[in-house]
Amino acid sequence: MIQISPSMLSANFADLKTDIEMINNSEADLFHLDVMDGVFVPNISFGFPVISAINKYAKKPLDVHLMIVEPDKYIDNFKSAGAHYLTVHYEACRHLHRTVQTIKNQGMKAGVSLNPHTPVSLLENIIGDLDLVLLMSVNPGFGGQKFIPETVLKIYKLKEMILQNGSSALIEVDGGVDNTNALSLKQAGADILVAGSYIFKSDDPTKTIAGLKSI
Ligand code: DX5
Ligand code: ZN
Repeated sequence: MIQISPSMLSANFADLKTDIEMINNSEADLFHLDVMDGVFVPNISFGFPVISAINKYAKKPLDVHLMIVEPDKYIDNFKSAGAHYLTVHYEACRHLHRTVQTIKNQGMKAGVSLNPHTPVSLLENIIGDLDLVLLMSVNPGFGGQKFIPETVLKIYKLKEMILQNGSSALIEVDGGVDNTNALSLKQAGADILVAGSYIFKSDDPTKTIAGLKSI
């Protein structure tokens, strides 16, 4: 069954506890937390204190998506803040193999994210070491953007690479996910769907999560 990771970027920041409890009591599997530094992406979101605060109440693992330069500097901090999956961007890492090993040595699951323009073939020599590959289906930086349909083909290619290499990496898709594209993402091989605005801007977020889960 597909996993659902609601993106807290679209939650009500003035009342996070209510949204955390909604997710705890829903069929969601993870909490997706987007960290943006204003350098790698043209936006700034939140950092360690907010993640630690969410971790105090969250009853599901934290899926932390770093959209920051030099992530190596902060791997310990994200571990202490409670990250379960720690995902870095391919485009932000000069020594990706080292970064991935450091994340795993710290006891976290290691993910690598690809921007829409980055081909999945670039992961060929590291796929065996990864727990997660996050395919961006919008340009990172903001919630509420339009889904880029070419992502579906990337999922097929990535799935094939994972099977060929005997990798156990999960495929996560992030950006513009809703009920119009979720089924095609699942059929292509996605294991985890991130959704922000589709969930939090709906009238009944719990029901919207259940709908995505049951596609
Ligand atoms: C975008 C973030 C996403 C974002 C998704 O840079 O990585 O996780 O919150 O939001 P929606 O689902 O609204 O596109
Ligand atoms: Zn994200």
